[in-house]
Amino acid sequence: MSTPHRLGILLSGRGSNFLAIADSVAAGRIPNAEIAVVISNKADAPGLAAARERGLTAIAIEANGRKRAEHDAAIIAALKEHHVGLICLAGYMRLLSPGFIQAFPQRILNIHPSLLPAFPGLDAQHQAFDYGVKIAGCTVHFVDEQLDHGIIILQRTVPVHETDDSHTLSARILAEEHIAYADAIARVLSGNYVIEGRRYVRKQ
Ligand code: GRF
Repeated sequence: MSTPHRLGILLSGRGSNFLAIADSVAAGRIPNAEIAVVISNKADAPGLAAARERGLTAIAIEANGRKRAEHDAAIIAALKEHHVGLICLAGYMRLLSPGFIQAFPQRILNIHPSLLPAFPGLDAQHQAFDYGVKIAGCTVHFVDEQLDHGIIILQRTVPVHETDDSHTLSARILAEEHIAYADAIARVLSGNYVIEGRRYVRKQ
């Protein structure tokens, strides 16, 4: 088998998507991959503690008043030091600078809890619920320089029930996020796709 693909995870919070990715790596649902490093911009992120409990390399790189580009440069250096080939944003609550995106072209993924291009930005599940949509879901996409805008790799949908509130809907979406992210990572790592304009197209 070839050298494992090295994933870098960036998170800021609870890290349930990170844990789903780690479980999928361990179970072989993301073949030939390993988590090289978990980085958080928040030292007290529960996701960072969870990574340490699993014996993974987990580091906090806080902004500490630095400008975005300077903070990002420190994160880029850590990712390179750990030979990361694919970066997965998993609840990373900071915008990436253009320099960051250019350092890893088409190698940064994000998961967003809505069916983009609907409801970009914060609290997407609540935006969708308040809007009254009947179908909601999540999107895994490449990161580009605009917020929640890059090429879509895959989406998963959920129904919105009459009895839902935004919390029950969020939980239903989150369960799909955990499936979608691992699936998308495996697809990207396989290299079995082409990009046509804005379209991600799987090769047979
Ligand atoms: C998820 O809803 C994800 O879609 C969004 O941020 C949230 C992170 O949750 N980008 P978790 O930290 O992975 O549990």
